[in-house]
Amino acid sequence: MSSEYGDSTRSVRAGLPEPIPGQPFLPGPVLASTFALDPTTGPVPGVDSYGRPDSSTRRRLEAAIGELEGGECLAFATGMAAISALLLTALASGDEVILPADGYYLTRTWANQALPPRGVTVSTTPTAGRYPSFAGVRLVLLESPANPGLDVCDIAALARAAHDAGALVAVDNTTATPLGQSPLALGADVVVASGTKALTGHSDMLIGYVATRDPDLLAGMRTWRNGTGGIPGNFDAWLAHRSLGTLDLRLARQSENAAAIAAALVGHPAVRSVRWPGLPDDPSYVVAARQMRRIPGIVTFELSSADAVQAFFAATRLVIPATSFGGLHTTGDRRAQWGDEAPPGLVRLSCGIEDPADLLADILGALSKL
Ligand SMILES: Cc1ncc(COP(=O)(O)O)c(C=O)c1O
Repeated sequence: MSSEYGDSTRSVRAGLPEPIPGQPFLPGPVLASTFALDPTTGPVPGVDSYGRPDSSTRRRLEAAIGELEGGECLAFATGMAAISALLLTALASGDEVILPADGYYLTRTWANQALPPRGVTVSTTPTAGRYPSFAGVRLVLLESPANPGLDVCDIAALARAAHDAGALVAVDNTTATPLGQSPLALGADVVVASGTKALTGHSDMLIGYVATRDPDLLAGMRTWRNGTGGIPGNFDAWLAHRSLGTLDLRLARQSENAAAIAAALVGHPAVRSVRWPGLPDDPSYVVAARQMRRIPGIVTFELSSADAVQAFFAATRLVIPATSFGGLHTTGDRRAQWGDEAPPGLVRLSCGIEDPADLLADILGALSKL
């Protein structure tokens, strides 16, 4: 779907075949691993033969995400499968990788376990900077906005600096989604993401993807995926594609809810601090306003203690205590309970699509009981 169209048009039509009378707009999932081969030609590219290397259901999802990200997409079983595929194929012994110090904690934890024994040096830098010289660095992985602190970095400026030093740039686009920002257009070499969050948005599946315009990176990750087998099943690939159609609508409501809640939390006596990159006073505001097309529905705020967070969850009726984010239902997660280096009272609130007035009344009511 051409980029002349708006976000909702692009997301509802992404990856769909031309309409065929009597057929669904999005063909159903192909629930098979093995397909009949042409007895004379044998396997033919683009025709289903065996599900691990390729499948028509997955290919349609990849075409859809690829259209939205502006590159070639490969879908993976989870976001971590996608991130590890990039790091394990783009890096070799003697290389250095820079990871966000404040991004998704498992990326950092896993990389620190898996990469040094393979001869790769892992360094970390806070998303908001200052960034070191990229001389001698092979790959810079950015996460903007970073989860859970919501700091933002200037992707275009960092991509220029990294390229000048000969480094590759990857961006974890999980929080923003391809409708929130376009890292490849900003100069990144590759996007990695968890589609488990807002991209699919119904808290009913795990999936991940990479997207790139670099044929060598793509080929390396395709070979890796085929050899390690970390593909999403066809039902999940279809479900993800089905869910993309409402991405624009879901993000719009989530962002509207976040704007209302963030504004209400600022200066609230029970709340120590609030982060939402759409607040004009937020440290991320200026860069986010320049490089993002929309601000995600995640608000991070700090209460006085872990006990205060427990009391908040006990008092709210609409905020479900749960990890992950980007779903239809509003959820809240005390990040320190997972091993994130976050203060004990830090809550990552993921705004769902409930009515803003209901959510606001519920959250303010719960805070008033602390
Ligand atoms: C920013 C970010 N990247 C990657 C992941 C990993 O995604 P998955 O759980 O689909 O493996 C997460 C999960 O929370 C995340 O928040």
